[in-house]
Amino acid sequence: MKSIILFASALVLILGNSAFASASLEDTCKKVQAEDPDAKYEFCVTSLQVVPESRTANLSQLTIITTQLSIKNYTHALGVIAQLLKNHSLSHLQREVLETCQEEYNLGVDANKQAIEDVKAGDIFSALSSLSAASVAPVDCEDAFSEGKEASLLPREDDLASKISNLALGILALLKS
Ligand SMILES: *[C@@H]1O[C@H](CO)[C@@H](O)[C@H](O)[C@H]1NC(C)=O
Ligand SMILES: *[C@@H]1O[C@H](CO)[C@@H](O)[C@H](O)[C@H]1NC(C)=O
Ligand SMILES: *[C@@H]1O[C@H](CO)[C@@H](O)[C@H](O)[C@H]1NC(C)=O
Repeated sequence: MKSIILFASALVLILGNSAFASASLEDTCKKVQAEDPDAKYEFCVTSLQVVPESRTANLSQLTIITTQLSIKNYTHALGVIAQLLKNHSLSHLQREVLETCQEEYNLGVDANKQAIEDVKAGDIFSALSSLSAASVAPVDCEDAFSEGKEASLLPREDDLASKISNLALGILALLKS
């Protein structure tokens, strides 16, 4: 976190905010990866380039675009959960874990929506806290399965939701100076 702050402040000093605003998608994705070795450049570019506006978006707008993708993924996960819960052969434990996941993803959607409001209001600090809160949903869901010693019923959904919400955090971190 400290290195992110130092890195971002150094860039602001050197380039100024206007240079930030005109950074290309590829440059932004490179910076995200440089700050977080787990963040994948390819994932960043392929996720964002499907949204045409991201070509010309500044960092606040990119954070919002990525958070909107995150909301879509969380909503998709909620749909899969609702579908799975219709299965009458689920064990009591499986049902309980799925309900935990449902609760987590619902909170996650709300936190993501709050993050968008925070970014729009220019409140980067609150946005970081909202996005961090949102990013725990897929992690808590996976944890609920492993704590119950159950095979995850949402491995792909949790993985993708986790990657996209971490990407939103990574982009937002570049804004923090
Ligand atoms: C990005 O652009 C929007 C709309 O022009 C503006 O309100 C916002 O302050 C800009 N953010 C940055 C970091 O330049
Ligand atoms: C999930 O996020 C990805 C970006 O990685 C996006 O391309 C995809 O459309 C989203 N999935 C859903 C179901 O919205
Ligand atoms: C319903 O849940 C049971 C128990 O986990 C599982 O064996 C079965 O494949 C599921 N059925 C469907 C249609 O998903």
